[in-house]
Amino acid sequence: MPPDIAKIYLQADLQVLKSGGVQDYEAPVRFADGIRRDCRLIKSVFRNKEGEPAGIVGIMFDLSEKNQMLADQRQLAAAVEQSPDAIVITDLQGVITYVNQAFTKVSGYTAAEAIGDRPSLLKSGRQSAELYTELWRTVSNGGVWSGRLVNRAKDGRLFIEDAKVLPAFDSSGVPTHYIAVKRDVTAVVELERQILSAQKLEAVGRLAAGIAHEINTPTQYVGDNTRFFENSFLQILIVVQWYDRLERAVRQGEPTGDVLRGLGEAKANSDLEFALDEIPKALEQSLEGIARITEIVAAMKEFSHPGSEEKTPFDLNAGIRSTTTVARNEWKYVATLELELALALPPVPCHPGDINQVVLNLVVNAAHAIADRRAAEGTQALGVIRVATAVEGSSAEIRISDSGTGIPESIREKIFEPFFTTKAVGKGTGQGLALAHNVVVDKHGGSIACESEVGVGTTFIIRLPLRDSKLAELELEGEPTHA
Ligand SMILES: Nc1ncnc2c1ncn2[C@@H]1O[C@H](COP(=O)(O)OP(=O)(O)OP(=O)(O)O)[C@@H](O)[C@H]1O
Ligand SMILES: [Mg+2]
Repeated sequence: MPPDIAKIYLQADLQVLKSGGVQDYEAPVRFADGIRRDCRLIKSVFRNKEGEPAGIVGIMFDLSEKNQMLADQRQLAAAVEQSPDAIVITDLQGVITYVNQAFTKVSGYTAAEAIGDRPSLLKSGRQSAELYTELWRTVSNGGVWSGRLVNRAKDGRLFIEDAKVLPAFDSSGVPTHYIAVKRDVTAVVELERQILSAQKLEAVGRLAAGIAHEINTPTQYVGDNTRFFENSFLQILIVVQWYDRLERAVRQGEPTGDVLRGLGEAKANSDLEFALDEIPKALEQSLEGIARITEIVAAMKEFSHPGSEEKTPFDLNAGIRSTTTVARNEWKYVATLELELALALPPVPCHPGDINQVVLNLVVNAAHAIADRRAAEGTQALGVIRVATAVEGSSAEIRISDSGTGIPESIREKIFEPFFTTKAVGKGTGQGLALAHNVVVDKHGGSIACESEVGVGTTFIIRLPLRDSKLAELELEGEPTHA
C-alpha cells in the first residue's frame, strides 16, 4: 500500500491490538489494478494458546459500487425534489408516499400533510367523475394519462395543472407505484384567456364596419319608404277630403258640379293609382328591412355571448346562423353561403362565445381563401362556403368547407401554430387557427382536423363532445380499479 494508506492501517491495527474487540471502519484500498476504492474493513485480534495477541484477522468489502449507487440515487432524488414540476408518488392504493418541493409550493400543503393522504386532497369540485375514471383506467392498465386538472390549494385558491400520470414498474414489470408529474399552467391559461378576449375584441372591431353597412342598407330604404308614405298620405288626405264634401252635398241635396270638378282635379294631381299600387309593396319591403335589422342586432347579441366560467348547453345551429350573419360582409362579395344544419342537433355543452369565435375564424379564413383563388384565376364567379352540422357518435360535428385555394401539403402541419400566417401584414396575424385549436381541444376536449386539396378547397372538421362531463361529481377518491 502507498504510505498514506499504510499509515491509516497501521494506526487502526495498533488501536485494535490495544483495545481488542471488533473494529469496523472505512478506508481506501489500492486494488491490484492500481485504482483506489472505498472499502469497509472489519478487523479483530486473534490470540495464541496463552491468550496473547497473535495477529489480526479481517474482512474487507468493496464499497465503491454501493457508494456510487448512493451518490447516483442522491443525485436523482435531488433532481426529483428540486424539479420545477410538481411530482407526486402514490402507492397502488392511491395513497401519497412522496411529494416534492414544487408540489408543496404550488399546493401549500407540506410533505408531512400530503403523505398518507390521497391526491383528492386537492379536489376542487371542478373536475368530472369521468376524467378520474379515465385516469385510473389508463394508469391501472399500464398507460400514461395526460390532461389538465383544476385543483384547489390549501388556502382555497384554484390552480390549473397540466398533468401526466403513469405507473412505475419494478424490474420484473410489476407496477409498484403511480407517479404524477404536474406543471402549474394557471398563468398560461390566464394568458390564453386574455388572447382569446383580445381576439374577440379585434373581431368585433373588424366586423363593426361590415355590420354598420349591413344595417345601413335596410335603414336607408325603410327611411325612403317612410318618406314616400308621408307624401302619399298627404295626397290621399286631400282626395278623401273632396269625397267628404261630395258626400255632404249629396246628403243635403245641393248641386255637386263644383265638388265633382274639385275632386277630379285633386285626383289628377295626386297620382292616386301609383300610390295605391306602391304602398303595399313599400310596406312589405319596410317590414322586411326592419326584420333584417332585428336579425342582425339579435345575431350581434348572440355572437358576443358573454363568456362564462361554466359550460352551458348551446344551440350550435343558432350560433352558426348568428355568426355567419354578423360576418356576412366578410364573405358576401366572394362567396355564397350554404348552411346544412342538422335538424335534430342536441344542445352542445360549451362556452358559446368561444365556439362562435372559432366558427368566425374559420369562415373568415374560408372567405380569404376564396378571394385569393378568385384573384389568382381572375374570375368573378362567387365561390361557396358550406357550414354543416351533424351528430357523429358522441360528438357534435361542424364542417366548414370552402372552394378556395386549398392548403399546400408543405404548410399543413404548421397552420395551427400560433403566428403562422401566409397573409400580408394587416390581413392576418396567424392566430385564428391557434385559437381555434386551443378552444376546441384544450377547453372543450374536442378535436379539429383539416382536409384540403390545392385548387379544390378545404374542409375544417370540428368535433365537440356532446356529453357534459360534469354530470356526476365523483372525485379522485377511493381505490383505483384494476381492470
Ligand atoms: N380555409 C383555408 N384555405 C386555405 N388556407 C387556409 C385556410 N385556413 C387557413 N389557411 C392557412 O393557414 C394560415 C393560418 O391561418 P390562421 O387563421 O391561423 O391565421 P391567419 O388567417 O393567417 O391570420 P388571423 O386568423 O390571425 O387573422 C393562413 O395564413 C392560411 O395560409
Ligand atoms: Mg384566420
